[in-house]
Amino acid sequence: MSLIKLLKKSNRKLLFTTPSHGQKFFIFSKFRQFYKYDISETEAHDPQKALDEAQKRAAKIYGSKYTCFLTNGSTSGIIAAVLACTNRGDKILIWKNAHPSHHNAVKLAGCEPVYYDIPTDKEWDIPTKTTPDLIDIKGIKAVIVTSPTYEGIVSDIVALKDICEKNNVYLIVDEAHGALYPFSDRLPSSAVNIADFTIQSLHKTAGGLNPTALLHSNCNINPAQALSMINTTSPSYPLLASIEANINYLNSQKGRKKLDDLINNIMTLKEQCKNVDFGGDDITKILIKKDGLSGFELSEMLYDKYNIEDEKTNEISTMLLCGIGTSKKKLMKLTHVLKSV
Ligand SMILES: Cc1ncc(COP(=O)(O)O)c(C=O)c1O
Repeated sequence: MSLIKLLKKSNRKLLFTTPSHGQKFFIFSKFRQFYKYDISETEAHDPQKALDEAQKRAAKIYGSKYTCFLTNGSTSGIIAAVLACTNRGDKILIWKNAHPSHHNAVKLAGCEPVYYDIPTDKEWDIPTKTTPDLIDIKGIKAVIVTSPTYEGIVSDIVALKDICEKNNVYLIVDEAHGALYPFSDRLPSSAVNIADFTIQSLHKTAGGLNPTALLHSNCNINPAQALSMINTTSPSYPLLASIEANINYLNSQKGRKKLDDLINNIMTLKEQCKNVDFGGDDITKILIKKDGLSGFELSEMLYDKYNIEDEKTNEISTMLLCGIGTSKKKLMKLTHVLKSV
C-alpha cells in the first residue's frame, strides 16, 4: 500500500503509543492535517512496510538500485553516502568551497579530507565545471562533486565516473539543485544512473516541502543502514508521504507537462529580454548580468525597486531560481521588469 493511502486510512485501535496527540489533539490547529497524518511505527499503522515499498517504487522510477527518502535534506544524504562507502582514515576528495555538509560528512566518517579547486568563470564570477583533470584521485576512496552548482553549471558526470571506475573510487554527486533533471530531456542529464550515489533536494526546485530530499545509490551499497545512524528513530510520516506524492507527481503526465511549460515560459522570457545576458547550463536557474551594473547593484535594484529577490549574487551576475512551482504570471512579471532594467 502507498504511504499516502496508509496515512488516509482511519485506525480503529485505541492507541497508547507515541505520538500521544493520537492524531486528534491539535495544539496548532492550522497544522490539523499534519497532526492527522503524524503517526508512528505502531502495529495498528505499520507504516515501515509502506515506506519500504514506496522507496522501492521510487527506485524503479529513477532506475536506481536503491532510493532513500530523506527528511533532513540533502545534507543528511551526503553524510549518509560518505558513511556508507568509506572506512575511518580513508581519503575523501572534496571541493574546497563545497557545501558545509561535504566537510562535515568527511569529519563524521573519521576520514581525511583532500581538497580540489575549481577555476572561476571570470565572465560570470561563478565556479566552473568539475573536470577529470581537476581531481587527482590517486589513493582516494571517494570523491564528491557538486553538479549542478548553485548557478546551474553541470559537470560531465560520465567522464568523471569513467576515471573513478578505473581507479576504484566512489563517485558521490551532490545534485541538490538538480532534482528536476530526471523528468525532462530538455534539462541537463541527471547523475542518478551514473554516479555511485546521487543526492537531490526535492524542496529546492521540485516542489517538495522543506527539507525533503532523496539519496540514490547506483552501486551495490544500500545506504539505508548508514542513514539510520544519523536519522531519528521517529521519522515524520507526513513528510515521507509527501516525498512519495512528490515523485509520483513529477513522474506523471501532468507533472512532466508542468515542467515543459516552465521551460517554455523561461525560454519566452529569455527571448523577450534582449537587454540582459543569460548564462549557465540549466534554464531553470535564470543567471543574468547587465552591462554597466555589478551583480550586487542589479540584485539591489531588483529588490528595492521591483520587489524581486534573487537566490544568489556575486560581483558580476545574479541568479533567480525557478522550479516546478514557478508560475507563468511570476515569469511574465520578471520579463516586464528585466526589459525595463
Ligand atoms: C550545493 C548544495 N548541496 C547541498 C545542500 C544541502 O541541501 P539541503 O538544504 O537539502 O540539506 C545545499 C543547500 O543549500 C547546497 O546548495
